[in-house]
Amino acid sequence: MTAIADQSHSTSAPGDEPEFEKLAKRVDDAMRALAGLDPMSRAIAEEVKASVESIHRAGLVSIVRRLKAEEATREALFELVDDPVVHLLLSLHEIVRPDPMTLANRVLADVRPQLHSHGGDVALVRIEDGTAFVRLEGACNGCSMSSVTLRNLVENALTESVPGVSAVEVLPNEPSPTLISVESLRIGLNPTGEGWVKVGAAADIPVGDITAACLTASSGDQAEVIVVNIAQRLTAYRNECAHEALPLDNAMLDVSNGTLTCPWHGFCYDATSGECLTAPGAQLEQLPLRVDEGDVWVRVTT
Ligand code: FES
Repeated sequence: MTAIADQSHSTSAPGDEPEFEKLAKRVDDAMRALAGLDPMSRAIAEEVKASVESIHRAGLVSIVRRLKAEEATREALFELVDDPVVHLLLSLHEIVRPDPMTLANRVLADVRPQLHSHGGDVALVRIEDGTAFVRLEGACNGCSMSSVTLRNLVENALTESVPGVSAVEVLPNEPSPTLISVESLRIGLNPTGEGWVKVGAAADIPVGDITAACLTASSGDQAEVIVVNIAQRLTAYRNECAHEALPLDNAMLDVSNGTLTCPWHGFCYDATSGECLTAPGAQLEQLPLRVDEGDVWVRVTT
């Protein structure tokens, strides 16, 4: 009751649109309130909801059809679909389907507990021409019976549950050629700078690649970071996507257009500024970086 009463005053003024999280919370609150109603009231409320939704769906289908019909308006439609709120609305009405990367990551999230229980893991790298490219870790690697079983589990889950994926290819797993060992990062605290930690020699940070590292400052502050090297220009970020804070070790770095794409749900960033190009306003957390006598230092405390 309270949630429904609270919503009555929340009409936004034109140009003062509520944020995505507030909209989602409002729906969640209303659904919780709905669950608390007696069966008769709940049935009436659900019928109201269903009938309003069917009007919305019919209207949205007409809008999308009209926009898709002309080349000029199709472009605008694609831009609109990139807006998270519009995307959510169209997904709720099943007018757009989640992209294959999102679907595949959801499927992998379901099998991951089973992999973890055997000491393994999987990371989706990309989907191309019907093939999902993955990296397998821990017990999923190798040729024992259990690793073969875990690989089959991943393969079956992806090919059976993600439309358009008919094959799975395992990428070679040189244990992260760009991953710097934790031990080597505990060395050399710069005496002149609070919180600065040496990542390693600048010459060892591969060009056109992402280097992941776990850094520990003398204060004990720790940070998982990535260092992006585009044409010798180095930028450090906290190793967390702005979407759901998942790691970016396996992000795709496209040096041709300077973008970095999160492997989990495809958020795309400007690799040199961290600005999110998928969801305007979102941003990777950039960490101060400097090169001193050939060594790369990152400050992990704020
Ligand atoms: S965690 Fe979802 S896009 Fe990165």
